[in-house]
Amino acid sequence: MLVYKYQVMKKNGIIILGAFFLFVAFAALACREAEAKITGDCEACHGLYPGMLESAPGGPLKFVLQNALCVDCHTNSTRDTLKHIGQVDVPVVFNHVEPVKPLAGGNFYYVSRDFGDRYGHNVDGIAPVDRKHNGAPPGYDRQSDPSVIGYNPGKTLACSGSNGCHGDRNIEDPFKAIMKNHHAEDRPIDGSTTARSYRFLKITGKEKGVTGIEDDEWERNRSPKKHNEYTSGINRLCANCHGDLHGSINTGKESPWLRHPTGVILPERGEYLKYNPDDPPPPGKTGERIYSTEAPVARGSLTSDLGEIVRPGSDSVFCLSCHMAHAGPYKFSLRWDYDAVTAGEAGKGACFICHTEKGE
Ligand code: HEC
Ligand code: HEC
Ligand code: HEC
Ligand code: HEC
Ligand code: HEC
Repeated sequence: MLVYKYQVMKKNGIIILGAFFLFVAFAALACREAEAKITGDCEACHGLYPGMLESAPGGPLKFVLQNALCVDCHTNSTRDTLKHIGQVDVPVVFNHVEPVKPLAGGNFYYVSRDFGDRYGHNVDGIAPVDRKHNGAPPGYDRQSDPSVIGYNPGKTLACSGSNGCHGDRNIEDPFKAIMKNHHAEDRPIDGSTTARSYRFLKITGKEKGVTGIEDDEWERNRSPKKHNEYTSGINRLCANCHGDLHGSINTGKESPWLRHPTGVILPERGEYLKYNPDDPPPPGKTGERIYSTEAPVARGSLTSDLGEIVRPGSDSVFCLSCHMAHAGPYKFSLRWDYDAVTAGEAGKGACFICHTEKGE
């Protein structure tokens, strides 16, 4: 029988809810174990982080390690982006050395070193507060943020909670905002709970979470056939903190070009009919193109047979067509080197995956 070693008896007034709580939790978990997402050797994880479930008498559970705990468990000191704890694979979003096969969101390695601030989200525990934006999300618009707490630029950006992206943004505490979800049933991904939202992206308890289809390896081995599927719901998640960058103001052909139209369906005409020209579909497949992992599209509807087919007239350009959600090797957390694109080095940028006839 596995025994927890929560290290909780060390301080005055702090006692373990202990055997009783865990017995109840264990019993509850055992009942839904067949469904639970993380199962297996409890001690492998809970022994690593003895403070994970600590409580003062009568008080709420307090999570001593907070955001640092999320970062720590999802970090690897080697180049590999999956690490193993017991029988479980942990998706790694922060490698201490340059990662091989970064996962779908990119990798926080690129904001952690001397690259500078421009390469992505400066999350607490990984990078200091961004100097250009001084901790505030660029384009923040309180009206577009459904969180009752709102973003607090006086505090650091976290993985989850009201100052983070994952979990319930109506809850300030990063740990509470995600509590119970690592062990919860996470299918179907319908946005009804945090676990049942795409990658725990719930927005708030009241809003419907982000939907999509999750690649079982977090895109570690992505290809046109095997990848995550997104819906435009993720634009709304980004708009929580970047609302002004989401609207239609300053989009279009004006110069300077500030904001790209987002959520717009690839028109069924002109250059868009040649989306991803370097990887054409077999002859005879009119109206069908092949998915590009360099400039992905969001799906109009999620059916199980999407695979590698992209359909202008149905699939749309979205925030992650151009940006990595976490961080990456290029400025503005872009998927490619924008300087090379503006210098006119055709073919170097994902712009041309959609704008196949530049200047049309
Ligand atoms: C791969 C790591 C991992 C393993 C293995 C693991 N846990 Fe957890 N557990 C977590 C994390 C992370 C959290 C906190 C975040 C959350 O609740 O989503 C957690 C939270 C909990 C909680 C509080 C939240 C809840 O769901 O009620 C309980 C109780 C718990 N675990 C029990 C167990 C038991 C029992 C086992 C063995 C069957 C186990 N855990 C195995 C990682 C793990
Ligand atoms: C003890 C290790 C551990 C800790 C601590 C932990 N996680 Fe995880 N996390 C995991 C594992 C293992 C998985 C993969 C579970 C699975 O297979 O879906 C995971 C999955 C995730 C996912 C992806 C879910 C999906 O759909 O694949 C997110 C997002 C996440 N964790 C966020 C967090 C946040 C935020 C915290 C802190 C509040 C946190 N994690 C703390 C181990 C951990
Ligand atoms: C909880 C708030 C929050 C959410 C949600 C959020 N961001 Fe951010 N974002 C920030 C903050 C704060 C900054 C500025 C600090 C920094 O760059 O680390 C930022 C900066 C950025 C930058 C500029 C990066 C740089 O270093 O120049 C980009 C690009 C970006 N976000 C894209 C996105 C995308 C795409 C999404 C949706 C997947 C998103 N953000 C969701 C808070 C958020
Ligand atoms: C077609 C590509 C494309 C799409 C789609 C796109 N962006 Fe950008 N974004 C860019 C480029 C290019 C830049 C850098 C522009 C510049 O030079 O200021 C940028 C810059 C940003 C910045 C940094 C602004 C600053 O002042 O530092 C944020 C934040 C951002 N985008 C968020 C978003 C969000 C949120 C969405 C979805 C609603 C989105 N972007 C959709 C291409 C795109
Ligand atoms: C995923 C596909 C996609 C990518 C990648 C993309 N665009 Fe677009 N772009 C579109 C769509 C769709 C429209 C809207 C077309 C319409 O409404 O007729 C558009 C519109 C524009 C417009 C407005 C003018 C027009 O034709 O409507 C400009 C300018 C533009 N894109 C520049 C860029 C640049 C620069 C990049 C790279 C940083 C880029 N685009 C990347 C799909 C994309």
